[in-house]
Order: sequence, then structure tokens, then C-alpha cells
Amino acid sequence: MPESAHLPRGASAKMVPATRAAPVATKAPLASKLHAAGIPKLYDPGFATTIAYKSAITDLNGTAGILRYRGYPIEKLAAVCTFDEVAHLLLHARLPTRRELDAFRVTLSDARYTALPRHIACLIESFPASAHPMTILTAALAALAASYPELNPSIVSSGVYNDPETRRRVITIVLAVFPTLAAAILHHTTSTHVTLPSNAPSSAPQSYTYRFLSAALPSLPSQLVTAFDTLLILHADHEQNCSTSAVRHLSSSGVDVFSSLSAGAAALYGPLHGGASEAVIHMLARIGTPSNVPAFLAKVKARRERLMGFGHRVYKTYDPRARIVRSLTQTIVSITATHDPLIDVALALESAALSDDYFVSRKLYPNIDFYSGIIYKAMGVPPSFFTVMFALGRIAGWLSHWLEFLDDPDRKIARPHQAYIGVLGPLPVPSLDSRDEDRGEKDTILARL
Ligand code: CMC
Repeated sequence: MPESAHLPRGASAKMVPATRAAPVATKAPLASKLHAAGIPKLYDPGFATTIAYKSAITDLNGTAGILRYRGYPIEKLAAVCTFDEVAHLLLHARLPTRRELDAFRVTLSDARYTALPRHIACLIESFPASAHPMTILTAALAALAASYPELNPSIVSSGVYNDPETRRRVITIVLAVFPTLAAAILHHTTSTHVTLPSNAPSSAPQSYTYRFLSAALPSLPSQLVTAFDTLLILHADHEQNCSTSAVRHLSSSGVDVFSSLSAGAAALYGPLHGGASEAVIHMLARIGTPSNVPAFLAKVKARRERLMGFGHRVYKTYDPRARIVRSLTQTIVSITATHDPLIDVALALESAALSDDYFVSRKLYPNIDFYSGIIYKAMGVPPSFFTVMFALGRIAGWLSHWLEFLDDPDRKIARPHQAYIGVLGPLPVPSLDSRDEDRGEKDTILARL
């Protein structure tokens, strides 16, 4: 796809100086070639050692603790940029000029897209207020497809996303409506007063963060606004994590983009992934005080508990995002009037785990979710909503991977193999009346269900 196809309307590639270094070639051998040369298929639970995709978006070195978006270190992006600039970087492969940033914001503030479609508002209303916000988000993302039948490969044609204008519309629609959707879900599940945008044309371009906060949390102190924007940057992408891989997995089938994003949200919801920040707060509350930390860690080591917010598939050192969030948390603590006792528990837990051989020998360090919940809590957001806050940032990454994958010459439908470990047949199929309650099938088949 030509680079200009990613650009907001009115912008051109010529406006931007080239800032990218030469791309890196992959050195990984192709598994299909090894297999053809006689190497058996490898069993790889959790894809722990398999490369499924090539990507030029995020560079992650978990041993050295390096995270870069399009070559830019996460620490610098978090210190210098806004989330909108980073979203632009992920989607368009370069940081925007001031003019491009304005154009990007104008496009994403388009009132035709920021307002919630009526059927989505009704869908949210139809959920009990006790529903988990991520359940509603997952359903609403999938349901968005109904508003845009012209963007649905099943309705139009499988080639609908080949058109650069269609891709542009998808990005606009999703990033324009997402803050409104999140605010509406917060309102429905917590009765928080929100001011949702109408579809009257807005006068000025607004940032993504502003659009969410002005609707949902309008009186947030400026330090928390900045902290939230930084959190969105840190959450924006993390290469082939469970949710991003889910987006690619679904997209590989040719399904509509909204269904792929819904799958991403569903994967993110899991407590081992983005749902960890909610689980961390519950864990800290259960521990209660720093004096209970040793007893809790003993349970973790006895495998009766899991230390949420610790460990990572890829990082075998301190998660660079966690370092930034930890320092942000300390800033927030120093400016908020009320001291959150959970911070003392978190600090005691971190310090005890980092000096305990169980965690040190397994290279378990705090990840981004260990401290992010404390900031969300300081913003006045309930724990059940934390993963929606994560998704507000990660949606930019999901869309970037969706775009990149559309142009991947190696794109194939995702279809892993399995090693069959069941009964080797063929077994004769007995008639219904002749089946014996005590027959072996019960043990071999039902026991596995
Ligand atoms: N608490 C206690 N033990 C742990 C933990 C933990 N949080 N994480 C890993 N271990 C142990 C694990 O039991 C295993 O020990 P052993 O070798 O004796 O069996 C060893 O460390 C290796 O763990 P693993 O389960 O093979 O590691 P994984 O790469 O499959 O799992 C993880 C990664 C993130 C799912 C896991 O570390 C975990 O469950 N962490 C807690 C949940 C969490 O914080 N998730 C957020 C991740 S960051 C946000 C995101 O990007 O999703």
C-alpha cells in the first residue's frame, strides 16, 4: 500500500522529512522450509518460541528492556509526545508535523463519527449496570460493524480494505468513536455523569485524551490528565501480545475489522493480559497492609496465589513501561491530597519480591500493570473499568497491526496445527441402546471434556 494511503485527508508524504532508518531484515528461518527439509513440526505451547508475523511497528528486546515504536525509544516518546502523535506514528510510520497533527485531530474530531450510533447507545442500555465494562466494550465493538455495512467484506467484497480511502475511514471511525464509547460505558456501569458529544459539528480539533476526559472525567487535575495521556502512549502497542495477535488472527480470516477489534478487546480483558491492572488492585486490597506481604508471597511461592502485575512472557528484566508508570505514580502520590494505602502495599510487595530468590531466579519483575491501576484509581475510575482505559490506548496498536497485516505479502489464514492425543480409531460406533454406561469411551472421552 502506498504510504500516502495512511495519511489524513489533505496531507501528503512530501510534507514530512524522512526520519526513518533503513528497515531490518528478518534472520529467522522459515519453518515451512525447515519442515520441507525433514525437520518435524515443533510443539510450541503459547507460541513461546514461534515467530508468527513480521512487523515494522514495535521493536521489543525483553532481555535488554528496550521498547521502541518505529525506532523511537518509549522513554523519549512518553516524555516528549502526546498520545495523538504516537497514534499517528504507529499508524502512519512517522511522527506528524504540527500541520499533520492538526489535520489528524480535525479528522478524528469529526462529529459524524464521534457521536455514538443509536443502536450502540441502545445496546449499551440493554446491559445490566452490573455488567463488566469489558463485556460491554467487546459487544459494542463487534456491533459497530452494523453501522457501516459498506466496510464489511462479507457484505461488499473481500477486497474492500484494498482501497486506501476505506482504510482511512476505518481508522477515523474507530479512533473518533472510541473515547465516546468508553465514556458511555463508564456512565452506564457506574452512573458517572458523562457529557457525550452530539453530532453537531465541533468548532475545534480536539485531542483523543481530551475527548475522553471532557466527556467522562472533566474536572481531573492537569497532572492526572498528563499522566493519563502518558499511560495511553505506554499502552499503545506491544507487538504480538495476546490481544494484538488475536486481532491479526481474526483479520487473517478476512472478517470485518470491527469483529477483529472486538476479539482484541476480549483477549485484553483476561487477567493475565490487560485485565491484570484490575487484578492487581484486588490483590493489593486483599493483602491489606505491608505487614501481610511476607505471608502473601509465601502463598505465591506455594503456588496458591499469583503475583499479579509481575512477570512477562518477553521481559526478563524490568519492564521499561513499568519504570515510567512507577515514577508517574510517585508524582501522582505527591500531588493528590489523599494518600492511597494501596501504594504502601505495592511498594512493600515490589521490594520484597525483587529481593526474593523465587522471583529473582525466574526473572520476574513488575510489569506495566503493577502500578497503572493506582493511577486509574487516583483518577476516580473503578477497577472494573481499568482494562477499558488500557484499551483506549491499545486500540491504536490494534489498528496499526490491522493495517500492516493487510499489506503483508506472507498473510495467510491463521490455522495452527495440533498434535492429536486422543483414542486411535477407527472405533466401531455402537447403536444407542447397546452402549454400556461403564464402557471405556466414558473414561477416555468424557474425562477430557
Ligand atoms: N507470579 C508467580 N509466579 C510467576 C508469575 C507470577 N506473576 N509469573 C510467572 N511465574 C513463574 C511461573 O510459575 C513459572 O515458574 P516455574 O518455572 O517454577 O513453573 C515461571 O515463573 C515462568 O512463568 P510462565 O508462566 O512460564 O511465564 P509466561 O511467559 O507463560 O507468563 C505471564 C507470562 C505474564 C502470563 C505471567 O508472568 C503472569 O501470569 N503474570 C501475572 C499476570 C500479569 O501481570 N499479566 C500482565 C502482563 S503485562 C501486560 C500485558 O502486556 O499483557
